[in-house]
Amino acid sequence: MDDTFNVESAPGAPFVAERRPEPCAMVIFGGTGDLARRKLIPGLYNLAKDGLLPAACRIVGLGRSVDDAPAFRALLKESTEKFSRTNVDPATWDELAARISYVKGDLDDPATYNGLRKELQRLDGEGTGGNRLYYFSVPPSSFPVILGRLREFGLIYADEANGGPWSRIMIEKPFGRDLESAKALNKMARSFLDESQIFRIDHYLGKETVQNILVFRFGNAIFEPIWNRKYIDNVQITAAEQIGVEGRGKFYDETGALRDVVQNHLLEMLALVAMEPPVSFKSDDQRDERVQVFRSLRVMDEHEVRANTVRAQYRGYRAEPNVSPTSRTPTYTALKVSIDNWRWQGVPFYLRAGKKLGKRSTEIAITFQSVPLCLFGHDEVCQRLEPNVLLLRIQPDEGIALKLICKTPGEDIYVSTVTMDFSYQRAFDRPQQEAYERLFVDCMRGDASLFARADGVEHAWRFIDPIQKTWDRTDDPITEYEPGTAGPKEGDELILRDRRMWRPLT
Ligand code: BG6
Repeated sequence: MDDTFNVESAPGAPFVAERRPEPCAMVIFGGTGDLARRKLIPGLYNLAKDGLLPAACRIVGLGRSVDDAPAFRALLKESTEKFSRTNVDPATWDELAARISYVKGDLDDPATYNGLRKELQRLDGEGTGGNRLYYFSVPPSSFPVILGRLREFGLIYADEANGGPWSRIMIEKPFGRDLESAKALNKMARSFLDESQIFRIDHYLGKETVQNILVFRFGNAIFEPIWNRKYIDNVQITAAEQIGVEGRGKFYDETGALRDVVQNHLLEMLALVAMEPPVSFKSDDQRDERVQVFRSLRVMDEHEVRANTVRAQYRGYRAEPNVSPTSRTPTYTALKVSIDNWRWQGVPFYLRAGKKLGKRSTEIAITFQSVPLCLFGHDEVCQRLEPNVLLLRIQPDEGIALKLICKTPGEDIYVSTVTMDFSYQRAFDRPQQEAYERLFVDCMRGDASLFARADGVEHAWRFIDPIQKTWDRTDDPITEYEPGTAGPKEGDELILRDRRMWRPLT
């Protein structure tokens, strides 16, 4: 486990830094909300600290729970001190705070948009160039109202033709709660805006280690020839959390594990592992290939849903604040997924996600096929010949590990499994950005590679919908699991049936 890789970085400019983030006014709807306080403002703070925020970038919070800009800034300072990945340095905070203003008001009240228009006009004079980035940190039910008002007040432009100022929107997941609502949302957004103006966030795509999946696959020639059904036995994708619903009981109880993380985070990771090489690294070329994977997911009928999926709830979930005492919402799910295409036919992708599990671990384990014949003598040695596993650790302890078989030192042939391990932290002497930081900068430079596209979101729902609907129709009681464990035994049975095992979680 102690082997590290020497880092020999290639000189020259970074490959993707083709376009610089442009000045803009960033308007956060839901500016006093949980997401803004935990992630968005701390992310902007760290960008400012690293000198990555354009000088003429201004931030306007829109909310109701505080009265004025000084109170808003005080609220944000307190939460940034709590949630920032680096210590808050007073001088940098003051510089950022000087760029933050506030508009108090209801989302459907015309007076709010009058106030916002005035504020944006003032900021245009400070160099934002009329560029606007609207961040919708509010429930999807508010989107039509906001978009309608923005258009009515002339605050959003239909396109970016002729090099004029741009307006873009960033939208949080989950994008809809099923195929029908996602289609309706896409249709509504597209009636106001061009697809190139819509940035649908899946923050997993902004994680350094998730982006590295592509660099790893397409920057190393040795893996591509074996990256297919001929050499890979199965793929496991795990997103295990130790935390529960953390004060988000209402949202979570209406959402559940499948909609909350599988429809988006897990399927995006699956797409990056399974996709074909894109024609180029350009935004739509990458997204085309991810969408092809979503299109190839085998949609399950009711019988297959029963055979290939497991849902469960942690004991104590129903007593969480704002959760129904009779809730049947799953906090854990495990699925066996098939991809119907040339490369992956017959290779199962096992997905599992859960809250209150024994360990926090997000990882992708690619298990290769066993050697065809054991040449090392007696059964005892042959039984130790575990297959090679390539492990992409997304978090924590981000890195890549490869399990290999080697000879145990000594006169006789005995074998052991050893691990070659690359750790980001040990290899690179630099802190990793939070996903939101990367996504803000990409949106400011108009690069949508790491955002979900309308067709991808709809294809993902097309796969998820029959599972959720079958679950919703069943009257069977939901299985419970103990907090702090690896989940319910049904989750283990799902994979054991195929004579395989999950990677340990406790
Ligand atoms: C969010 C989900 O999208 O992702 C949360 O809504 C989940 O329920 C979170 O906890 C996990 O993100 P991360 O970055 O902590 O792995």
